[in-house]
Amino acid sequence: MSDKIKSTEITDKQVYLNRRLFMRAAVLAGTATATTLLYRRLNPQPLKLAEGEKLDDVVKVTREEASKTGYLVDEPQTPLASITNYNNFYEFDTSKSGVAHAAKGFVTRPWAVSVEGLVNKPRVFDLDELLQIRQEERVYRLRCVEGWSMVIPWIGFPLHKLLEKVEPTSQAKYVAFQTLLDPNRMPNQKFGILSWPYVEGLRLDEAMHPLTIMATGMYGETLPPQDGAPIRLVVPWKYGFKSIKSVVKISLVADEPPTTWNIEGPDEYGFYSNVNPNVAHPRWSQADERRIGEYNRRKTLMFNGYGEQVAKLYEGMDLVRNF
Ligand code: MTE
Repeated sequence: MSDKIKSTEITDKQVYLNRRLFMRAAVLAGTATATTLLYRRLNPQPLKLAEGEKLDDVVKVTREEASKTGYLVDEPQTPLASITNYNNFYEFDTSKSGVAHAAKGFVTRPWAVSVEGLVNKPRVFDLDELLQIRQEERVYRLRCVEGWSMVIPWIGFPLHKLLEKVEPTSQAKYVAFQTLLDPNRMPNQKFGILSWPYVEGLRLDEAMHPLTIMATGMYGETLPPQDGAPIRLVVPWKYGFKSIKSVVKISLVADEPPTTWNIEGPDEYGFYSNVNPNVAHPRWSQADERRIGEYNRRKTLMFNGYGEQVAKLYEGMDLVRNF
């Protein structure tokens, strides 16, 4: 008996190995800055490159490029402790401070994401396969519709890289996303708090925009359960609820897909939900916000400060009607 490996030990080893793999991918693929940061935080040992790997493979983003693309916001980053203890994830808990505890132990291996619908090559991708796509660090503002905001150093990959693999057909105009539906693992799905599973959607051009990422980590670590492990959408110019967590299905569709908060409150939460200080929520102003960790409120920026990159997507559109 004693010389047998307990199943719990095997699981631990598996998780550990997967994490190491993830970290290597992240470290190798991050920006120069990101790499240095990750290095300091997580790799006290010098990074050993595998045979054939070159440091030249690291994507180098200059400060100038970062501000042009919006990839790396030059503002103080919200501490990890705040990002991981102030959450909206109704599948686990409706109180922000309760999510971390309720989501502890959420099992995210194995995990697969089905990419299907109006595509030439529908496919189910295993998480490990998605982690093979070059991971990048993106430091984005996150503005919640409730009026608070954070700055989060994500790790992930642009969604367009995944969509290109399945070849959307010319009929595909929108992308629909779905969170895992498993009431045994997501306890609040046993109750009718929202209509489960949580669903979200983007127009195809929004989904293909280089700022739109599938995040797999943050602060150089794999994503904690409360922040949407193992993979979530991040669309930095839209209110936070568009950034759907723990995604299992991505469908290319012809018509605007239903979205969870729009189903709950069609007059309060639109399909687009672009951050817009000029369009008030029916019950509160959106002109300013509380950056977590700051005392004074700060002005909310149009498109959350990403106007230079995304305003052209909405040229000629009435942003009040299409809120
Ligand atoms: N995704 C799912 N599946 N369930 C949720 O309750 N909450 C949304 C969004 N994604 C939510 C979700 C909301 S309202 C916000 S503001 C962000 O996740 C919060 O992300 P964070 O907890 O990582 O800050």
